[in-house]
Amino acid sequence: MIKQESIENLKSIIDIVDVIGNYVQLKKQGSNFVALCPFHSEKTPSFVVSPTKQIYHCFGCGVSGDAIKFIMEIEKLTYKEAIEKLASMYNFKLEYTKGNSFIHLDLLERVNSFYISNLYKNENALNYLKQRGLYDSTIEKFQLGYAPTSHEQFKFFKNANLNKKDLIELGVLNESGEYPRLIERITFPIFSQNGKIIAFGGRTITNHPAKYINFTNTKIFNKSKTFYGLNFAREHILRSKKIIITEGYMDVIMLHQAGIQNAVATLGTALTKEHLPILKKLNPKVIISYDSDSAGINAALKASKLLYKEFFDGGVVLFEEGKDPADIVKEGKNIENIFKNEIDFSSFIIEFTIKKYDLKNPIHKKNAIDEFKNYIKELPEILKDDFSIKASQYLQIPPNILKVKTKHIQNLNLNKKIDIAEASIIKTLYENPEIMDEIIEYLTPEMFNTHFYELDAVYKEDFENPKLLEIVLRDDIKTLDIKTLKNQIRKLLIPYYQKKQLEIKYNKNLSNEEKMHYLKEINLKLIKLKKGELVESDIPI
Ligand code: CTP
Ligand code: MN
Repeated sequence: MIKQESIENLKSIIDIVDVIGNYVQLKKQGSNFVALCPFHSEKTPSFVVSPTKQIYHCFGCGVSGDAIKFIMEIEKLTYKEAIEKLASMYNFKLEYTKGNSFIHLDLLERVNSFYISNLYKNENALNYLKQRGLYDSTIEKFQLGYAPTSHEQFKFFKNANLNKKDLIELGVLNESGEYPRLIERITFPIFSQNGKIIAFGGRTITNHPAKYINFTNTKIFNKSKTFYGLNFAREHILRSKKIIITEGYMDVIMLHQAGIQNAVATLGTALTKEHLPILKKLNPKVIISYDSDSAGINAALKASKLLYKEFFDGGVVLFEEGKDPADIVKEGKNIENIFKNEIDFSSFIIEFTIKKYDLKNPIHKKNAIDEFKNYIKELPEILKDDFSIKASQYLQIPPNILKVKTKHIQNLNLNKKIDIAEASIIKTLYENPEIMDEIIEYLTPEMFNTHFYELDAVYKEDFENPKLLEIVLRDDIKTLDIKTLKNQIRKLLIPYYQKKQLEIKYNKNLSNEEKMHYLKEINLKLIKLKKGELVESDIPI
């Protein structure tokens, strides 16, 4: 944890005009600055930055906040990450509370410097990287190094006064502390999203049977939540709205060297469910680009199934037999075009599932059908039809053979009254989850009369909840544009707060003073609502 005091100190030195000025062109206007809003598209500036209040506000789309909120929104970072980013912009050294990973992170940086200095002492290692086609600048950018013999490493740990317990805890030494995890290997520091070293991977250059060794999971490193290269790729992913996911270290490095800077890798594991929150936050089109050997294709199939189910746009790119992106770059082929020709997820799933079966053989065909049926069962309702129609075309069977009927949902619908106003709000949030963070400030589930359960489900991103699907699948419920949505919410909030006022008036547990206080607060809210503004839902009772 970062010390609160340290955050306050940082806040006192940052200037919002400075910070935002790094992202948009600000023009002075009276005592404020104005710009074209970076959060929605517009032709005349309605984005205002106030140096005196140290806040920004867009009169067009309604976003507002301080410098930290701005960095969180524009860089899609968490609060902590935004603080760390600002600290590095201002060269400010944050202080962390005890029990944190501060000393640790520093320790890995020191080990990294040691590995780097060893690379330049070891001709073999350096030559190996050169012969694989890496430029000096690439070696520097990815901070590649070389882990020397165990003896030399222990000598360094001792001279540098590094604590053995910490070295074990962070994975530099094995569990018993007897030997370093990486010995006589090229080292690849693995960075967190904001550029801190959290682990290392190492490649043999002497044909050791374990080609790569990675740190095991530690307190600060979880392999199945990490994308190698994301720290370098982040802004390119946000800009291009596209991410290329490869299998290995060398793929990422070579792609970046070839100018494809939105590439990352999963670390020797397939893409897992745990990777998805990171992807959802960046919200890019996803291109899976694994090796085209059978292990790679199977991993791509698994990843496609996962991503398709979760509504990701994108697909799979396959290379010639046995090659990976690093090989293609080394051969000097124009790789950019290859990445434009992906096979979309559903086609890939269907084509490569079918490949496993001989469809002329009726037993095989039946097995293929069963495999599809099982996958269709897992799919969210709104994807089921599309997928089964497509798969049935490939299998040359009537689509209803694959249809997994979901009777219970239709039955549920019959005797339930739908509140159109509430339902359209829910459907809009379901289809535009990125606006949820904002809307949740104004609208909480208990404010609904009928569909509070479904609103709660949408907020929890429980997108396959059958009651929620009942609403979002209905054609007679319309999705709203953001302005209409806010207006609709406003119209619901007025009677809600009026009711709240009555409840407070007749509440026997409140003192008169408390009543006055709450009634005044709600009154202010009602005035704003009636003027056409939305208000935060912060009444404590
Ligand atoms: N990997 C691993 N352990 C191995 C082999 C592979 O952890 N024994 C992981 C590494 O992260 C590696 C990725 O899986 O980068 C892809 O493996 P592979 O395609 O074999 O490695 P390449 O990156 O192609 O290796 P290189 O080009 O260096 O031969
Ligand atoms: Mn490979």
